[in-house]
Amino acid sequence: MATNTFYFPVLWLVVAAIVVGILAVISGIHFFQHTAAKNQTVREKTPRQLAVLKRLLWVLETLTVLLVAGGISAWYIDSSAEKKTLAELRARLVPAFDPAKIWEAPDPYLAQTDANAEMIAYGRDLIAHTQDYFGEQGLVRPGSINQLNCQNCHLDAGSKPFGNNYFAVESTYPKMRGRSGTLETIPRRVNDCFERSMNGKPIDTTSHEMQAIAAYIRWLSTGVPKGEKPKGTGLMEVPFLDRPADPARGQQVFAAQCASCHGADGQGLPMPDSPRRYPPLWGPGSYNQAAGLFRLSRFAGYVKANMPFGASYQNTQLSDEEAWDVAAFVNSKPRPEHPFLNQDWPDISKKPFDHPFGPYKDTFPQEQHKFGPFAPIVAFYKK
Ligand code: HEC
Ligand code: HEC
Repeated sequence: MATNTFYFPVLWLVVAAIVVGILAVISGIHFFQHTAAKNQTVREKTPRQLAVLKRLLWVLETLTVLLVAGGISAWYIDSSAEKKTLAELRARLVPAFDPAKIWEAPDPYLAQTDANAEMIAYGRDLIAHTQDYFGEQGLVRPGSINQLNCQNCHLDAGSKPFGNNYFAVESTYPKMRGRSGTLETIPRRVNDCFERSMNGKPIDTTSHEMQAIAAYIRWLSTGVPKGEKPKGTGLMEVPFLDRPADPARGQQVFAAQCASCHGADGQGLPMPDSPRRYPPLWGPGSYNQAAGLFRLSRFAGYVKANMPFGASYQNTQLSDEEAWDVAAFVNSKPRPEHPFLNQDWPDISKKPFDHPFGPYKDTFPQEQHKFGPFAPIVAFYKK
């Protein structure tokens, strides 16, 4: 590859210079013949020279045709070889699926060289910097979401193991979901997060933006076979406590480990050396009560593997107790109400154990569905 990129342009220049030189000689000969044709003395005095020139002309013209044809076929062979090398390299970069291994994001080279590269890049930017497009000063539809970016909850634009990633979206959607009681496509699922986590309006499923988000999410599952959910997908499952999660203890965790970025009032402080802010954890700019993070197990799983910022599943910072308690504290603070209470979970027996809104198919109090202990509820439904 490296030799091609240097060698070929130089070779092209040399060939082109030779062709131009020959063409100049050819037109010189033509000019001479033309003059000779009009001048009888020249014609009579140089018959042999004129015959030689005629043959030379024939040789030069043939040479030109050969050079041009040869050049074109060399260029064609070279570019198809390059295409083949690219395809081989791409094929080598698609990871082999291994259900025992924590799944990682595909190599970015695969996105850059994809036929759909522009859409994938736009989708990634929409997810990483959602405010730039839909926030107060947004370029696409200003003022139509809260103060969050998708990436605040789907870390590294949805590509971090146990960072609420999108690795299993393409492989498991369309999916029958208990929350809506319907078969949900990827755009429908994306709009769920627009209406709940982003507390905003859904976007047109045929829009350029939705197509880009879907293209990016699809690309992220490169190498994941249909129906498979790779290890490390979504969120961590934090072991249950045998007591209810405690907002008062959670408040202490919050003050010690969260307030330095999210602010003592939970509204998010300005980021140092950046025009952006840390995201708010509650209040009108945060996710509403219909969002996934409003369920304690989702919140605990999210923070366990990702917070304080910099934590990962290999390097967790919070104990299980701290994760559950801080979840109880944050989700006890005020936030926008549930806009779909009457539509969600049409079959109430499908409500998850930590869905904090009755009625339920069981007799556990709503308080226990919100804070736990959850093991007895899970055991009840297993029976
Ligand atoms: C406040 C946090 C938050 C924000 C912001 C957010 N999401 Fe989500 N999203 C979640 C949670 C939580 C889940 C469900 C995870 C689970 O149940 O395991 C989820 C699930 C999803 C899923 C389905 C994943 C799967 O494997 O089934 C998609 C797709 C998705 N979100 C896209 C988006 C997009 C696109 C945006 C921005 C427009 C966004 N989300 C913003 C929290 C958020
Ligand atoms: C060092 C700064 C820092 C600390 C400390 C920190 N966070 Fe975060 N938090 C962030 C950043 C940055 C994001 C957004 C991540 C991104 O966009 O990549 C975030 C996002 C979040 C989100 C999802 C977005 C939202 O606003 O709902 C939650 C929930 C969250 N943090 C909870 C916590 C909790 C709980 C703690 C304490 C245990 C904590 N964070 C400590 C920086 C921090």
